[in-house]
Amino acid sequence: MSGLVISNLSAGYGEAAVLRDVSLDLAARDVTVVLGANGAGKTTLLRAISGLLKQVSGTIEFEGRQMLGAKPGTILRAGIAHVPQGRGTFFDLTVEENLRVGGLSRPARDIDGDMDIWYERLPKLGTRRNQLAGSLSGGEQQMLAIARAFMARPRYVLFDEPSLGLAPLVVEQLFDLLGTLSRESGIGMLVVEQNADLALEIATKAYVIEAGRIVASGTSAEMANNDAIRRAYIGD
Ligand SMILES: Nc1ncnc2c1ncn2[C@@H]1O[C@H](COP(=O)(O)OP(=O)(O)OP(=O)(O)O)[C@@H](O)[C@H]1O
Ligand SMILES: [Mg+2]
Repeated sequence: MSGLVISNLSAGYGEAAVLRDVSLDLAARDVTVVLGANGAGKTTLLRAISGLLKQVSGTIEFEGRQMLGAKPGTILRAGIAHVPQGRGTFFDLTVEENLRVGGLSRPARDIDGDMDIWYERLPKLGTRRNQLAGSLSGGEQQMLAIARAFMARPRYVLFDEPSLGLAPLVVEQLFDLLGTLSRESGIGMLVVEQNADLALEIATKAYVIEAGRIVASGTSAEMANNDAIRRAYIGD
């Protein structure tokens, strides 16, 4: 089934064009990775998909429906959630309040049950449910950001550099969680990363973005075996 199909997407801020003619074919139930250095346009790409940028052209189709130009709330209700760079949790709300905010687009009667599912899956969130998000460790905040996005019951989730600033062991746990969620739920995921090795392990397909353009794409195995990509994004 077609998931998220992006064609000739251009986007920018003011005079500056940042994305140029970006086309991505993102399968509905797979994990896709977009690799790119600082400033390549990864955050701009995710913000364009989520409806957070005004200056956009091209087409973004989700499950056959045109999304370009729709408001962020419409895009969320259509089934696309976004875990922003730097997590985006509300520091002065508790874990539980953050999860409730994540579920605002859904019927109130579903929220408590869904929160319990996340407390069971991520017991650290359960024991800290009344703690302020700002007092969580970086890894716990990333888990909260993921759970919060999933509270909207999305069918597709955008992750902006989820591993940023986390210790290597925590990064491994994070990608384990994303891989498990993907396998169990079949929810599609687009993960933008500079840290390629673990992201490629859970992905089916990968793209490379440089200076706002897609410069390479292939299966994750092809990308993991590509010398130029290994040097640039895997560090060997
Ligand atoms: N609000 C903004 N106004 C003007 N220019 C911006 C704005 N946000 C980003 N840019 C520019 O767009 C380009 C791409 O930025 P973007 O944040 O998308 O990169 P990125 O790949 O996410 O980088 P990083 O890995 O550092 O997060 C950069 O040159 C940046 O300076
Ligand atoms: Mg970014």
